[in-house]
Amino acid sequence: MYQIGTTLTQFILEEQRKHAGATGEFSCVLNDIALACKKIAALTSKGDLIGVLGSAGSENVQGEEQKKMDIITNDVMIEALSRGHAAALASEEMDEVYNLPSNIPRGHYLVTFDPLDGSSNMDVNVSVGTIFSIMKAPEGVENPTAADFMQPGTKQVAAGYCLYGPSAIMVLTTGNGVNMFTLDKDCGEFLLTREDVKIPADTKEFAINVSNQRYWEPPMQRYISECLLGVEGPRGKDFNMRWVASMVAEIHRILTRGGIFIYPMDSKMKAAGKTGKLRLLYEANPMGFIVEQAGGMATTAYSRIMELQPTDLHQRVPVVMGSRNEVELVTGYHNA
Ligand code: AHG
Ligand code: MN
Ligand code: MN
Repeated sequence: MYQIGTTLTQFILEEQRKHAGATGEFSCVLNDIALACKKIAALTSKGDLIGVLGSAGSENVQGEEQKKMDIITNDVMIEALSRGHAAALASEEMDEVYNLPSNIPRGHYLVTFDPLDGSSNMDVNVSVGTIFSIMKAPEGVENPTAADFMQPGTKQVAAGYCLYGPSAIMVLTTGNGVNMFTLDKDCGEFLLTREDVKIPADTKEFAINVSNQRYWEPPMQRYISECLLGVEGPRGKDFNMRWVASMVAEIHRILTRGGIFIYPMDSKMKAAGKTGKLRLLYEANPMGFIVEQAGGMATTAYSRIMELQPTDLHQRVPVVMGSRNEVELVTGYHNA
């Protein structure tokens, strides 16, 4: 139990004290990320005033258009994490693993991140976020390569996101529940505002991009059409729909009041040789860890996301996560 208002820094130090023999390196990585998120919160709130909106005129390794802020926030993350506490970094916006410059001492942690999730929302002033995941580098590895990042989500030691909305909120799990810290801009600190958050097992709210409906597999067609039939249909209740197009905002809503978030596999992606929309190492695993730690469930519609063996840094996967009973139902339809 922590007092509401405890700073994120105090929280990290108190957690460190529970681990005999902790060197403080892991705490430093978390502090580095918190610093980056404070900087990104300041940048997002200034927006057009500092000319950061719009396209950068380039593409990332996955062929997606990069926004100016995708590149700026990636640089902010690299800068904050280049203090000798991390071993190597991998990001949605970088083709290869980023090894710290040789003059910087290497730590023992691998950090993966989506520096700006929902970046297309920047230009229209809708919520965006930063997602991160922390793993241990394999023992004895001095210069981590992509192969060292190929660890299933169950190996994550921490994951979190920072949502930049009306307020900036850091949501963190170190495998011992989920806590939320709101940025108090007056004192420059993230302060604990919600402890041990739990997702309700049932919900009447779903989030899916319905414009792709004609490409979905039959079990997904069945699930959503049953939701849409409402109180007259087999579910016997009316559903509501939300789609922010920022996974961070969707998952935050689900942590707050329940719901299900779905980005399914579809025939259009399949024809293009894609294995899903969202990225396993930067989005699905960290969010899956948070959702599970909050009592929810996270699957590909067929199996548990966190047990997937990654094969590629930028691997994409289908995602179904949120309120346990809904995710179980969808997953059951797919495995029938
Ligand atoms: P990113 O901005 O990091 O590329 O991620 C966007 C993702 C996710 O956050 C969101 O749920 C989804 O893409 C939006 O997809 P649509 O374009 O289909 O709405
Ligand atoms: Mn994203
Ligand atoms: Mn992104």
